[in-house]
Amino acid sequence: MKILVLNGPNLNRLGLREPDVYGSKTLSDLQEQLITYGKGNNISVEAKQSNHEGELIEWIHEAAGEFDGIIINPGAFTHYSYAIRDAIASIEKPVVEVHISNVHARESFRQVSVTAAVCAGQISGFGFEGYKMALDYFQRGNKS
Ligand code: DQA
Repeated sequence: MKILVLNGPNLNRLGLREPDVYGSKTLSDLQEQLITYGKGNNISVEAKQSNHEGELIEWIHEAAGEFDGIIINPGAFTHYSYAIRDAIASIEKPVVEVHISNVHARESFRQVSVTAAVCAGQISGFGFEGYKMALDYFQRGNKS
């Protein structure tokens, strides 16, 4: 199984950015953890990050033919990007939305996700573990 992990804007600043909210580990730490976790679970993980909406959209389109699913943390685009929502809705493959922080316990604008409704589901508030939970979902599917 091949899963694409996409991180959106400002997530390249992990480790430096608001460590009280997002932790002290970097984006490379996250990506390495996910690749290693994937290997242990027969999942080939490719991980990319972009600060650009259009680039994320193109990667979503391309992934439709190459991957079995996508894990996406759209960063602040979560809260207002109808273009990313439409890109997710345009592909047949399942997408899981992940947030490091618990967006539902933060500012009211973060409690709105325009993308979650076109995803298989949303995982929020479990730090880097949330991405691994999403990998578990892809591996086990909706079997329970
Ligand atoms: C985030 C939450 C968003 O509100 C924020 O804009 C981010 C990170 C998270 O992972 O908790 O950039 O998606």
